[in-house]
Amino acid sequence: KTPQTWQGKTFVITAGPTREAIDPVRYISNHSSGKMGYALAEAAAHAGANVILVSGPTQLATPAGVQRIDVETAEQMLNAVQQQLQQCDVFIGCAAVSDYRIAEIASQKIKKEQNDEPPQLKLVQNPDILQQVASSEKPPFTVGFAAETENLKANALRKLERKQLKMIVANDVSQTGLGFNSDSNNAIIFSQDSEQSLPTMSKHDMAVAIIDAIAKRYFDNTTP
Ligand code: PMT
Repeated sequence: KTPQTWQGKTFVITAGPTREAIDPVRYISNHSSGKMGYALAEAAAHAGANVILVSGPTQLATPAGVQRIDVETAEQMLNAVQQQLQQCDVFIGCAAVSDYRIAEIASQKIKKEQNDEPPQLKLVQNPDILQQVASSEKPPFTVGFAAETENLKANALRKLERKQLKMIVANDVSQTGLGFNSDSNNAIIFSQDSEQSLPTMSKHDMAVAIIDAIAKRYFDNTTP
């Protein structure tokens, strides 16, 4: 039933990790492979939407019919997202955005000098892309993810509330074989007044289920 409904609507989806440089050869990042976000882009495109995928560094091929914008850092991801907001109906933040970046990136490779104290890395906070989208002047239907290693429900509901999201997909990333850099996932989709458990399944199937849940809310305002 969904395939026709997204015609003429635009999704902006973030995926993959960000990379925050320490010096010209080193960076801070995380284990996100981009698989979940790319699966969402593919499912949304398959359901008829225009899809813009803002992607951190990944090894993945761009899904058919999807426009991809490559970025490295959280700040670049925010800029790319902001440039697409005008024409965005649904935003999904699936990227594992680094919460912090290095305060001052060293212009030359940091050397290990004998007898030196190890260098101290000073971090500063990155912008919260999801929060900025959700609190923009004319916000799209905004869906976040929550990657949690404990207190899944409470932490996800806190993010839903604090970031003023329409929905949040909470995944427990402490389980091996699920979440980061795997082909399967399990999750709970929360909205203000509903929750829907998605048992362990492929990221492809989960993406289809998430796009369906968004459609139900977006078009009918019925519970997912
Ligand atoms: O890429 P895969 O290997 O397939 O793995 C998938 C995944 C585990 C990365 C994915 O399912 C997932 O959970 N993505 C969100 C990861 C994350 O950073 O979660 P968080 O709880 O730290 O962030 C909450 C939300 O805020 C997320 O929607 C995130 O995109 C967003 N955020 C966070 C920080 C920030 N500075 N800007 C943001 O937009």
